[in-house]
Amino acid sequence: MTPAVTAEQVQSFIDVVQSRRSVRKYDSDTKISRDELKEILTLASKAPSSSNMQHWRYLVIDSPERKQELLPIANSQQQVVEASAVIAILGDLEGWRNADQIYRQAAEAGYMAPDLAKQFAERSTQMYSSLPKDRAREIAVIDASLAAMQLMLVARAKGYDTVPMGGFDREKFKAAFELGDRYVPVMLIPIGKAAQEGHPTTRLPIEDVTFWNEVSPSH
Ligand SMILES: Cc1cc2nc3c(=O)[nH]c(=O)nc-3n(C[C@H](O)[C@H](O)[C@H](O)COP(=O)(O)O)c2cc1C
Repeated sequence: MTPAVTAEQVQSFIDVVQSRRSVRKYDSDTKISRDELKEILTLASKAPSSSNMQHWRYLVIDSPERKQELLPIANSQQQVVEASAVIAILGDLEGWRNADQIYRQAAEAGYMAPDLAKQFAERSTQMYSSLPKDRAREIAVIDASLAAMQLMLVARAKGYDTVPMGGFDREKFKAAFELGDRYVPVMLIPIGKAAQEGHPTTRLPIEDVTFWNEVSPSH
């Protein structure tokens, strides 16, 4: 059964959501260890995904040289060199290659009967490997974006800051980091300790962005 949630747990989660802001100035002396980054990525990967195929991939850029190389590709946005690391969120267009492993793990964990897991793996491999390219890309980008959001919230919960970045040259990024045709760069997420708070932003009133049962023509 899903465990009960206390009022304090609800409040601390809301605090994390409310306090996340895009941070663009980082304390370059703060280093997040690879072990801690792995912990953050492990929690980010608890995100849901299409048939649990987990189409997200993380390219962690934590070397000063590679961050410097990224700077012109990222429109000279200084946060890519000042943050402790930049996590490039990639979408895997061939995530079905892991179907056997994903379902084998589920069977080994006792979550699924082995013969059913085998059937699911075969079906997923067949289905995802024959998708039109556009659809495969859409699924990969959705899965990767869900992990990205979760990553930013986990980072905030641990006292770190982030900024999602779409402002970079995708072709140059693909070439510099040798992504080939299999991986789509979805966004860059610098992560570190803020040297300056992110500026507050507003949101449209919820009434303006919510429809109930039908999309009203006046919107
Ligand atoms: C897909 C996407 C791309 C973005 N690209 C950039 C970027 O290249 N550089 C940047 O400084 N902020 C970027 N942002 C951050 C937004 O400007 C920011 O999320 C928005 O203004 C709301 O502010 P908040 O994140 O502090 O709530 C991007 C956000 C998203 C979701």
